[in-house]
Amino acid sequence: MIETIKEHLAEVEKFSSTSTEEIETFRIKYLGKKGLLNTFFAEFKNVPNGEKKEFGQVINQLKSAATEKVNALKEALENQADTKGKFGDLTRPGEPIEIGARHPISIVKNQIIDIFSRIGFNVSEGPEIEDDWHNFTALNLPEYHPARDMQDTFFIQTDPDILLRTHTSSVQVRYMESHKPPIRTISPGRVYRNEAISARSHCFFHQVEGLYVDKNVSFADLKQTLQYFTSEMFGKSKIRLRPSYFPFTEPSAEVDVYWGLETETDYRMTKGTGWLEIMGCGMVDPNVLKNCGIDPEVYSGFAFGMGIDRIALLLHQISDIRLLSENDVRFLEQFKSAL
Ligand code: DAH
Repeated sequence: MIETIKEHLAEVEKFSSTSTEEIETFRIKYLGKKGLLNTFFAEFKNVPNGEKKEFGQVINQLKSAATEKVNALKEALENQADTKGKFGDLTRPGEPIEIGARHPISIVKNQIIDIFSRIGFNVSEGPEIEDDWHNFTALNLPEYHPARDMQDTFFIQTDPDILLRTHTSSVQVRYMESHKPPIRTISPGRVYRNEAISARSHCFFHQVEGLYVDKNVSFADLKQTLQYFTSEMFGKSKIRLRPSYFPFTEPSAEVDVYWGLETETDYRMTKGTGWLEIMGCGMVDPNVLKNCGIDPEVYSGFAFGMGIDRIALLLHQISDIRLLSENDVRFLEQFKSAL
């Protein structure tokens, strides 16, 4: 018996093949469930005691020889397959594909959406070419109201009823006209004003409008929501609300966030005060609710509006708002690693 095993051992050592099937047949012959090795192992109990030791040794030798042989041949086969394609994948592009960068406006907009969506706000949009009703009249700015001059308007040709929206507050109106409370929505978008272009202001920029309408919505809810926002967005939760005026809210306020005065940049950004103005807000005027078909006796709400460009300039230390619309790749590429 031992002699037979030794013959097999010699055969195993001699064996060579480059065919997958042959190697598999070889493996099954020796190492398979019903293979020779298992048959020999089964014989072990019938071997006289004096021979058991040597029998055990040769059978183990045969097992490792067969295993090693199979592994070595398989590996050789795989390597051969690799060298077959020595030019690699010829369909791959010749030059690596460059990863693009998101625009700083999109980065900030997405951050704002993310923060508000975590407290149940959805995202809504409206048209950039608006009518007078949605941009002004419904928002408590009737014709000849002096506050219309707060926002210099671009009109479309000679029709005074059609204009480029001056703020995203127009989306509030559209949303309330088509949805019943409870309403929790933010509306990001581009707005236009007939202003001189400079490093600080442009004739188009971006805003995010926020609107919350339900039963018993209070000014405290507004303040808490804004505080949540500033701490998530800037890591700063100290805010102050300065009384202000907007026709569509009553009372109205301007929101300042305490930025601090730790560095020279803080000094420059806050003009030495430590405070930065970031948005306007207030309780939705009952007239506006009525104009949009919502009963102000039953519902109340708050609204706020902020400029995305300003926040992008602030967070990324950009010195000139015009850089945001010039599409200079040397500028845009710097945002590759941002969100
Ligand atoms: N629409 C205002 C603007 O463009 C910003 C604003 C202020 C929006 C107060 C609001 C608000 O919703 O409540 O200057």
